[in-house]
Amino acid sequence: MKPQHPSLSHSGEQFEALIRWCSPEIGLAGRDYVIDRASPSARLCITRIKYKLDATSGAMLPCRELHAGDIALCNVALTTAMPTGMTLSLVDSESDVPRHTSANTLASVELKHVLRRAENLHTQALSVQRHHREWLHGHPGCVLWFTGLSGSGKSTLANALEQTLHEQGWHTYILDGDNIRQGLNKDLGFTDADRVENIRRIAEVAKLMVDAGLVVMTAFISPFRKERDMARDLIGADRFLEVYVNTPLEICEARDVKGLYKKARQGLIPNMTGINSPYEAPEQPGLVLSGAAETLDDAVESLMDWLSVKAGQLTPQEAPR
Ligand code: ADX
Repeated sequence: MKPQHPSLSHSGEQFEALIRWCSPEIGLAGRDYVIDRASPSARLCITRIKYKLDATSGAMLPCRELHAGDIALCNVALTTAMPTGMTLSLVDSESDVPRHTSANTLASVELKHVLRRAENLHTQALSVQRHHREWLHGHPGCVLWFTGLSGSGKSTLANALEQTLHEQGWHTYILDGDNIRQGLNKDLGFTDADRVENIRRIAEVAKLMVDAGLVVMTAFISPFRKERDMARDLIGADRFLEVYVNTPLEICEARDVKGLYKKARQGLIPNMTGINSPYEAPEQPGLVLSGAAETLDDAVESLMDWLSVKAGQLTPQEAPR
């Protein structure tokens, strides 16, 4: 068989690719993966899983997530250009096993065809920029990312904080799971794949709102560490506070404001976070609030403290030219 050489004349950042998934960890569209032996920041995102191939018949089968042994045709987006024909390894960035070992490999990805569409897009330079807007507002744009179980108090805290900020003249907006899922994200359910896509979109929207110079509060369960980390990387760590609303499941369940826990216990809801769908608690949250013990006023005070420090660090002191 002829050796395959990457074709340097066909390099790009978006490809149709054949992915051979080999890890017990499930592969999901919308999630960023680390590329082994590339620069430390190089990432690959599966933008679409088109189909997987049946191992015996070769038939094309519908597929929403990748399991060990799956071979699937996908569209992928890379953070750096790579040549067609190249085969990449995806590795688990969180694993304790050192990189470059097979125990750490999630998948191999063969870059088949460049998707030319990305080449025809160019960033438009705009005159009014974030720092201009921030100067007008008198405060920086940033994100307070509330995470916690359903019923933990994320929306209540974000709402109380927004009221205080609004009274003091800050420019704010709340992105709330229950509301956004009735509009922008009404096509998404509660499978792992849909939750990843939910948070990917919210992170992008929050980034735009930071560019608009707003203080954004996001109130989503956001159960997976990888997507919260992705949001932080996308928005920038200096403008991002992960707020863990650490209310125990028993308390959320006892409150059961929407009756969802009761339904989940009756087997009527298949993917209820905390019952039959996982919640990965933050390991190093910027702030931990207890939606049970703390008073709302104390919680708002802690959040205001962080914002005041940020405002001092990031707000332009003079009118930008
Ligand atoms: S996330 O997991 O994708 O971040 P999100 O915050 O948008 O979830 O939506 C959570 C809200 O949807 C909950 O507050 C709850 O009202 C509702 N919901 C409906 N079904 C579920 C479910 N299976 N698991 C969790 N929340 C659910």
